[in-house]
Amino acid sequence: MGLIDTDNRGGIFLKEFSEQRLGGRIALVTGSGSGIGRAISVRYAKEGANIIVNDINLEGANETARMIEEIGRRAMVIQADVGKLAEVEAMIEKVYNEWGRLDILVNNAGISGMPYILIEQTEEDWDRVINTNLKGTWLCSKFAAIRMLEQEKKFGELKGKIINTASISGKTATAHIGAYSASKFGVIALTQIFAKELAPDITVNAICPGFHVTAIYLNSEEVLIESMKTFKSPEILRGRLGTADDVAPLAAFLASNDSDYMTGQAINIDGGVEFH
Ligand SMILES: NC(=O)c1ccc[n+]([C@@H]2O[C@H](COP(=O)([O-])OP(=O)(O)OC[C@H]3O[C@@H](n4cnc5c(N)ncnc54)[C@H](O)[C@@H]3O)[C@@H](O)[C@H]2O)c1
Repeated sequence: MGLIDTDNRGGIFLKEFSEQRLGGRIALVTGSGSGIGRAISVRYAKEGANIIVNDINLEGANETARMIEEIGRRAMVIQADVGKLAEVEAMIEKVYNEWGRLDILVNNAGISGMPYILIEQTEEDWDRVINTNLKGTWLCSKFAAIRMLEQEKKFGELKGKIINTASISGKTATAHIGAYSASKFGVIALTQIFAKELAPDITVNAICPGFHVTAIYLNSEEVLIESMKTFKSPEILRGRLGTADDVAPLAAFLASNDSDYMTGQAINIDGGVEFH
């Protein structure tokens, strides 16, 4: 426990707060074998959570699990494709069989697809992107929420929290990755719909990252800068590209009791690119 000593009006009061905001929580982070999902998982572990690491990439998932265990938290790896109903249903069953509950779901798994303009878009690429980003978010939320609604409240007012990883491309269209952009508009729509349908017991909010150097850009600043030219993206007001670690604190806030009165929101974390 710690102490803070301001009431924002110059007055002083002392209020206890927990330095382990996510102490004892069980969190499932999809696509956490690299990038933003790994950064969120590590941050959650540092704030006290135990993590179920999901990815199609087993090697990456195992590495994330190792990092979580090094922090002193429990980790379990589940290799599953979020776009496939049977795999998602089995994953959630496994979580409840092994852990008995799920407090936080982060729908993070996502792919960008090929840089097509829409008239050149292939059906195969379109389906891959929509299945992973949009259908995957729906499937994981659906099966997790069914079980979350049945469980007792353990950490305050809520039975569970769902955090979706959308994008600023889900706020203003991004050319040349149209399927991706459409999928992320859809993720924001799912955020609002699930927020309404799962209220008042589960909150659902979305994170909208900007341009962060991760495997989605082949871990290359050059690839990212070239992509921004192709996308005709505006400048980043903060004057630098983002990292995966820039996103994690917002994901931790949305998973914690500090955000209990927020639901249905889509928050930009992009260094100042998108204002809506
Ligand atoms: N990097 C950025 O600039 C940026 C910007 C906006 C939004 N995002 C979003 O952040 C999320 C994470 O992306 P990232 O940048 O960390 O990329 P990343 O490629 O490093 O991580 C994505 C992870 O998802 C996994 N994955 C892919 N398809 C999957 C599936 N069907 N089932 C389970 N796992 C799957 C991958 O194996 C990978 O480990 C994505 O949803 C992405 O759209 C990223």
